[in-house]
Amino acid sequence: MKIHENISLKPFTTFGIDKKAKFFVRVGSMIELKSAFLVAKEKRIPVLILGGGSNILLTQDVEGLVIKLEIKGIQVVKEEAHHLWIEVGAGEVWHDLVLHCIDKDWAGLENLSLIPGTVGASPMQNIGAYGVELKDVFHSLQAMNRETLEVHSFDPEACQFGYRESIFKQTLKNQYVITSVTFHLSKAPEFHLEYGAIKEVLQANGIQHPSLREVSEAVIQIRQSKLPDPKEIGNAGSFFKNPTISSNQFEELRALHPTLPGYSNPEGVKVAAGWLIEQAGWKGKRIGHVGVHAKQALVLVNYGEGSGEDIKQLSQQIQTSVFDKFGIQLQPEVNFI
Ligand code: FAD
Ligand code: EPU
Repeated sequence: MKIHENISLKPFTTFGIDKKAKFFVRVGSMIELKSAFLVAKEKRIPVLILGGGSNILLTQDVEGLVIKLEIKGIQVVKEEAHHLWIEVGAGEVWHDLVLHCIDKDWAGLENLSLIPGTVGASPMQNIGAYGVELKDVFHSLQAMNRETLEVHSFDPEACQFGYRESIFKQTLKNQYVITSVTFHLSKAPEFHLEYGAIKEVLQANGIQHPSLREVSEAVIQIRQSKLPDPKEIGNAGSFFKNPTISSNQFEELRALHPTLPGYSNPEGVKVAAGWLIEQAGWKGKRIGHVGVHAKQALVLVNYGEGSGEDIKQLSQQIQTSVFDKFGIQLQPEVNFI
């Protein structure tokens, strides 16, 4: 376990922001993880846990220890006739896990294909796409308390999952490191094709009875048609969450803007932030080295030399303009450092 000093974090987040870490270490086991925390304690410096860096915006240098979590391993921990449970190390790459499950004919993760990042970060914001959320396949997780270094188990209730939310972003923020996640998968496919675009793509590809792989490929096709590849252009996926507004506010807005997309939920109506940002005139706009993606207005991009401050400023301008036009306050999905 080698601790590096003063290194650039540019290759380690998908926004490609050139901020420095005072100390940086890759951790591949529980023993290394504990040693890294002991080093930080001794030096009295804060710790930042990093997975794939695909949901982080660096606005400043990290004056502490960055721990890049690389604990690997996929283990079947229980198997029944129609279901199985797998425990996966936090450092496994999410999309590699999805492909592994498809190879094995284990169903559950296929709609979540091509989401960047690691398994350990997936419960942080209860990742979701195309009609499925992590919580639908989640059994439990193991997490290490950052103070006591003890490992605790969390069941779904303890995680308090919500839309792009969990207890680890709320009351337990910065208190635990997720070290493994256990998933509950099915041996017989249970397809979730209700999300319009998936059906359309399968139909267009002439597929009537899809396999897991074909569903995964349809999802990948849709994602690649609108989301920028971080290897080519810096971004962190959706920058903001889709806001939920009251039914009354929705009706008032809908009277003025008949094409506003909205989906009812128990709290009100969830509206499409991408639509709001596009209507406020931001889609495809570029300001210096940063901008708003031309195919998906919810994605802010770094053309290469942009800074975290540039992206932050752009995001604030967008928030102000959407609020002025629609009276809706957008909340970031991305974690600011
Ligand atoms: P990081 O960015 O490394 O970390 C995110 C946060 O979690 C940080 O606060 C970090 O400190 C903390 N953290 C990371 N790992 C751990 C751990 N093991 N224990 C404790 N804390 C930890 N998200 C979706 O939900 N749906 C999508 O469809 C989607 N599409 C995307 C598309 C693109 C092109 C991109 C770039 C991003 C997309 N995202 C999406 C966002 C992102 O991929 C997810 O949030 C992902 O889970 C982040 O994983 P990561 O390992 O990169 O986390
Ligand atoms: N829209 C526009 N203009 C745009 C973008 C979107 O009008 O520029 C409209 C679309 O026409 C559509 C609606 O907004 O009616 C929703 O768009 P889309 O299907 O592209 O999904 P999204 O709501 O923008 C969400 C997630 C994505 C996830 C997709 C698919 C959030 C914040 N984002 O995006 O997750 O992949 O649905 O399920 O919930 C992420 O979290 O990083 C992410 C990429």
